[in-house]
Amino acid sequence: MKIGDKLPTVPVQRLVDGDVQQINLVEFSAGKTILLVAVPGAFTPTCSDDHVPGYLSNIEAFRDQGVDEVVILAASDFFVVKAWADQLQPEPHLHFMADGSQTFAAAAGQTLDLTDHGLGVRTQRYAALVRDGIVERFSVESDPTAVSISGATEMLQTI
Ligand code: BEZ
Repeated sequence: MKIGDKLPTVPVQRLVDGDVQQINLVEFSAGKTILLVAVPGAFTPTCSDDHVPGYLSNIEAFRDQGVDEVVILAASDFFVVKAWADQLQPEPHLHFMADGSQTFAAAAGQTLDLTDHGLGVRTQRYAALVRDGIVERFSVESDPTAVSISGATEMLQTI
């Protein structure tokens, strides 16, 4: 995935009232500006304590800068992502979605092999500003266990 690319059309998932929704992020971003934040897994320390809280506490600042929706896309199954979302209590306009089979990560060329960490194949940690399905900014971390260029503070300065 790079600036100018269209997002992959392979679906990601979310669990709503016990039903699995299949979501095409190109359709989800139609006519909108979204910030897509991919994280290696739900409940991992960096994601739960640093990366996602930054977006939770800045959702209004992103809205003020023209971001309609923030999507946290976790490389975990949708049952786990639902439990994570319930714990973190997202504000409106912040959505938790699952890429449990890493098909979106693979289509985006962003898989990350964390087998040596006991986590299997996951996703790179990145943030992408997407307008109408097209990637306009793309910040991928060189160290997936840390948050710098894909964090909320940094993204607020670059979008
Ligand atoms: C994390 O805390 O997000 C993390 C931990 C191990 C591997 C990758 C990510």
